[in-house]
Amino acid sequence: MLIGGGGREHAMGLSIVKSGTELIVISPNRNPGLLRIAKELIIGDENDSDFVLQNALRTEPDYVFIGPESPLARGVSDVLLKNKFNVFAPSSISARLETSKSYCREFMSRNGLRGNIESRAFSDPQEAENFIKEVGYDFVIKPDGLTGGKGVMVQGVHFQKKEDGIRITREYLDSGQGSLLVEKKMTGEEFSLQAFVKGSKIYFLPLVQDYKRAYENDEGPNTGGMGSICFSERGLPFISSDTVVESRNIMSDLVKKFSDKIEDYVGPIFGGFIATREGPKLLEINARLGDPEAMNVLSLMENSIQDVAMDVLNNQDPNLEFKDKINVLRYLVPKGYGSRPVPSTIDLEEEKLLLRGLRIYYASVNLEGKQLKQTASRSLALLSEGTDIPQISARFDDLSLLLKGEYAMRRDIGTESMIESKKDAMKTVIT
Ligand code: GLY
Repeated sequence: MLIGGGGREHAMGLSIVKSGTELIVISPNRNPGLLRIAKELIIGDENDSDFVLQNALRTEPDYVFIGPESPLARGVSDVLLKNKFNVFAPSSISARLETSKSYCREFMSRNGLRGNIESRAFSDPQEAENFIKEVGYDFVIKPDGLTGGKGVMVQGVHFQKKEDGIRITREYLDSGQGSLLVEKKMTGEEFSLQAFVKGSKIYFLPLVQDYKRAYENDEGPNTGGMGSICFSERGLPFISSDTVVESRNIMSDLVKKFSDKIEDYVGPIFGGFIATREGPKLLEINARLGDPEAMNVLSLMENSIQDVAMDVLNNQDPNLEFKDKINVLRYLVPKGYGSRPVPSTIDLEEEKLLLRGLRIYYASVNLEGKQLKQTASRSLALLSEGTDIPQISARFDDLSLLLKGEYAMRRDIGTESMIESKKDAMKTVIT
């Protein structure tokens, strides 16, 4: 059983059925990709633990996978675990590493873990204001809870002066949405390091870089992610091998300490890192695979995630194998996504896109007749895989005849010039 109906879950579903497994999906939307591969697609609220449990009791899945973070936060994994299902996802206690940014920071600092960032949590606007007035560095404002990747405000990017930061913290804290963190701003290239975990054992996946900003050249509002690149086990060309080793050590120490002190973490984990002059720093932990990052790595992973889950849950080391290819993913989103999305419809020539060598992952869309109806969230992802960047990017050229409708897509993701500019940016950071 797979819970969730976005692009990440389509990739997880494809990986699950690769091993000949029957797939049952619980999803809030009629994802056309999942509809095609699932034995049964149950439309309903993925965050409703009673609804999920009733369907699990009826269909008796051997394994349960949970894609998004909100069912973890809402106790869906807890209820399934209590009813003795094999769940390849963390409990709500483990998921606190994602659902409370302050908990994660405190856990790291209490246990002397490397990679942490100077950070203070506030629920009182006056205390936040007093702190910001005194702070001697540029800072970032982060909601403590879940925001779908869209809530972080960075000085120098989303606001300039301390007074603006004070106004933002005050407005947020007065709105009753919970507490927030004021963190030291880090400079460098961000990257995503994902892994599968059982207790103190961690199995790493290749690095991915995700592009969160809505517009080309990394401008505009933050989004859930507009696309991503992955160079399989070669790593990212602008991230040094020392940085990879150190970030793996940071994650590995974190999960070991967590299993010593709290409980065995089980399932996928995601470290959002930034490569700084002082080495990699952990921006955030997510208690799941990333979206879009899951599509990059699962497309390259030869193993089925079902077989991996079976091994990991049975305390066997999975033998992870990845194709030696590069892949670039670009999301199609409704116009205005990131600020005021205006959902519309998309007509796509699926066969022609596939013939061109693009892979399609359906996300938060509903299939109605032959049309894809967009929601306010991301619609579908196109993934191009190969050995050479110009050939990989060329598959995204002239898509207008194959994809008709109102949508936005970043055309700079995974181009040669973008990758060169990332290398230059990283040289400036380290010199
Ligand atoms: N792409 C980052 C995330 O899934 O949160």
